[in-house]
Amino acid sequence: MEIQLDTRARSRCNLGMDATPNFEPAEFDLLNVPAGYLDDPYPYLATLRTQAPVHRNPDGTYVLTRYADIAQVYRDPAVWSSDKKADFAPKFGPGAPLYEHHTTSVVFTDPPDHTRIRKLFQFAFTRRALAAFEERIAALVDGYLDQLADQGGMELVEGFSFKLPIEVVCDMLGVPGQDRMLIRDWALAILTALEPKLTPAQLDAGNRAVVEFKDYLRGLIRHRRAHPNEAQPTEVLTVMADAEADGERLSELELLHACIFMLNAGHETSTNMISHGVHEMLRHPDQIARLRADPGLIEPMVEEVLRYQAPIQINNRRSVAEARLGDVTLKAGSSVHMIVAAANRDPAQFAQPDRFDITRRPNRHFSFGLGIHICAGNALARLEAAIAFQKLFDRFPRLSLEAPAKIAPRLRFREVSALHVRTA
Ligand code: HEM
Repeated sequence: MEIQLDTRARSRCNLGMDATPNFEPAEFDLLNVPAGYLDDPYPYLATLRTQAPVHRNPDGTYVLTRYADIAQVYRDPAVWSSDKKADFAPKFGPGAPLYEHHTTSVVFTDPPDHTRIRKLFQFAFTRRALAAFEERIAALVDGYLDQLADQGGMELVEGFSFKLPIEVVCDMLGVPGQDRMLIRDWALAILTALEPKLTPAQLDAGNRAVVEFKDYLRGLIRHRRAHPNEAQPTEVLTVMADAEADGERLSELELLHACIFMLNAGHETSTNMISHGVHEMLRHPDQIARLRADPGLIEPMVEEVLRYQAPIQINNRRSVAEARLGDVTLKAGSSVHMIVAAANRDPAQFAQPDRFDITRRPNRHFSFGLGIHICAGNALARLEAAIAFQKLFDRFPRLSLEAPAKIAPRLRFREVSALHVRTA
């Protein structure tokens, strides 16, 4: 099911007019959100933030909506663990492929394992490594925009915002061109399994995807080892497989799951960042005019897009000791949902938070998280976005929406599933 949004109605909500939703904050249930939340979560989150900022969900977890509380959790990994075994065992079943993946991947591990795994792929995200990608990103963007120019219009998610990040992350890892669609389907199935509520079909698809993805990567690693001349020395897969080969630093499972995680993390989020950026700019033509008048605004524009429509709306932690958030004491073992989308619009941190303003500075949003797990790919994502937006709005000054955008009804990932645009 997809929600067809009326963009005018959404503009009203996002500007905070007539936006007070009709729900009882004390009874809010993140696993069963009120009708309307998935269309436009922000008015609901604003009410929660003022009336129940450390809200106890009916399932005993907590929903955090204040910037300061979420910052406190991110900053204290000794109290707030990222290990999700206790949550994922009942959700996926211990031993299930999805359980194995989501409990082994770097984002759901604590130090010292986290430190060891993260160190192994940091080399891929240095300033120097990313500079080498700039030309490739620009060439890819030019190619998609040539198609847009030829056709006079396009469904932009499929034709542009999906294609760019997957090409880039597959280049980075060393996944051959012909296999990239496989990655997309597996990634979608595996990430969908992180949504709070799952159907049996989604669970099956996620488990199958992990098994197939691991087999695929094992084959690719075997091939790389048999044909070392084909590999680029900077490919993440090859470098990490060498680290695994020396046995001590990375087990085979850690290697496979780190690669799966990176291939997943590296594209769906970036796809949504690009789609939301184009959508928000087209809904705010005054901001396009500002960018055209001052191309130096591209970096703050990217930050504002990330703040305004966080591609990942929720992060999670579990306490290993008693902790206090505001005036609420949480027992050891408490699970918290950190609603990044709410923190990003907290008026205690951002003036006029429901206003989309590409000149906003400072803009310390949490869309890439904070602390030891801060997104490893944040500089790459920012680079992709800056090149994509700059080239698109430069080349098509009369770009417009052909139809209202479609927003998929997902809780954790804010996804644009279709965005039809025309160039004149
Ligand atoms: C707009 C695009 C992106 C967004 C919004 C995003 C968001 C995030 C967030 C919120 C986290 C932290 C999760 C937590 O603390 O629980 C994270 C972690 C991570 N991201 Fe991203 N990400 C994006 C793009 C990328 C890209 C392009 C890559 C790699 C190619 C990547 C790789 C990672 C990795 C490896 C981690 C785990 C870091 C760790 O646990 O130490 N991300 N991302």
